Amino acid sequence: MTQTVALTGATGFIGSHIVEKLLSAGFQVRALTRSPSQASTLAGLTWVRGSLENESSLVELVTGADVVIHCAGQVRGKNISTFTQANVEGSLRLLRAAEQSDRCKRYLFISSLAARHPQLSWYAHSKAIAEQQLVAQASSVSLGIFRPTAVYGPRDKELNPVFTWLLRGLLPQTGSSATQLSFLHVYDFAAAVVKWIEANVENSEPYELCDGQVSGYRWQDLQEIGQAIRQKPVSIIKIPLPLLKIIAMLSTQISCLSGKEPMLTQSKIGELTHKDWSATNVTITRNIGWTPNIRLERALRDGLF
Ligand SMILES: NC(=O)c1ccc[n+]([C@@H]2O[C@H](COP(=O)([O-])OP(=O)(O)OC[C@H]3O[C@@H](n4cnc5c(N)ncnc54)[C@H](OP(=O)(O)O)[C@@H]3O)[C@@H](O)[C@H]2O)c1
Repeated sequence: MTQTVALTGATGFIGSHIVEKLLSAGFQVRALTRSPSQASTLAGLTWVRGSLENESSLVELVTGADVVIHCAGQVRGKNISTFTQANVEGSLRLLRAAEQSDRCKRYLFISSLAARHPQLSWYAHSKAIAEQQLVAQASSVSLGIFRPTAVYGPRDKELNPVFTWLLRGLLPQTGSSATQLSFLHVYDFAAAVVKWIEANVENSEPYELCDGQVSGYRWQDLQEIGQAIRQKPVSIIKIPLPLLKIIAMLSTQISCLSGKEPMLTQSKIGELTHKDWSATNVTITRNIGWTPNIRLERALRDGLF
C-alpha cells in the first residue's frame, strides 16, 4: 500500500528536495506551508496551510499519514526564544499531533550536527534541547533523529556564495586553519530520508550524516579542490574574529530595521569558529544501509550546487 508522509519545511531548501525525492519514490506527501499562494502543484502532493505554532494545522497535517518528516526549523534569529519557539516547542507540538493520530507510527526529526555542541549557539542549543525533549516524550510514535552537517546543493543560499567564490579564486576563512569542516549534498540527504522510511527501524541514537570525507576538510583542502577544478590559484582570505563580530553586530542592527531575522549574530560566531565539524556515517550506514554518493569535489566540478 502507498505510504503517506507528512512533511514540514517543504517550502525551504532541504525540504523542497525531500518532497521531490519522496514523490519520485512513490510516496503520497502532505506538506505544511505558511504561504499557500506560493505552493507548487505536483501530482501526489497535498499542501496543508499552517505553521508549527498552530496546533490544529499540525493535526490536519498528520491526518492519514504513516510517517512524519519534521524538516521545518528556525535557522536564523536574533535571540534564543526565536529558536526555542520553533525548534523546541514546534517540534513537540508536532510530536503530540502525531501521537494523537491513530495511523502515524514514525517521526523523523531533522536536527543538526550542531546539536553535538549545545553551548556553541542558540541554534545548537535549541536543536539539542528539542532532541532531548522528543526522546523523553515520544511513546506510541517511534523516533528517528538525523544530524546532518552543512548541506548544500541547488537552491541553497548559504554555502552557494562560498563555493562560487572558491571557483573564482577566493576562499574566505572563518576560524583556525586546523578546523575540520564537513559537507553533505542535498541529493544524498533526501535519499537518506527515503532510506530511513523504507528501512523501518525502531528508535535509535541520532545519526550523523556527511559526504563521507574521513576527518572532514581543512580550509587548505578546500583551497586545493578549488585549484584543481580551476587549474588556477585560489587565495585564502582569513576573516579575523573582531571583523566577524563587527559584521554580526551590523547584521543584527540591519535586521531590526528590515524586520528579517539575521543569519550572522554573536551567537552564530560560536559555530563559525568551532574547530571540529567532522562527522561520521558509521551508525546510519550500519543501521539503515545509507551511504552518500556525492563528494564535494565532484559536486563543485559538475556544478551541482
Ligand atoms: N541547510 C543546512 O546546512 C542544514 C544543516 C543541518 C540541519 N539543517 C536543518 O534542516 C532543516 C531545513 O533547513 P533549510 O536549510 O532547508 O532551511 P530553510 O531553507 O530556511 O527552510 C526552513 C523551512 O522551515 C519552515 N519553517 C520555519 N519556521 C517555521 C514555522 N514556525 N512554521 C512552519 N514552518 C516553518 C520554513 O517555512 P517558510 O518557507 O514559510 O519560511 C521553511 O520551509 C532545518 O531544520 C535546519 O535546522 C539544515
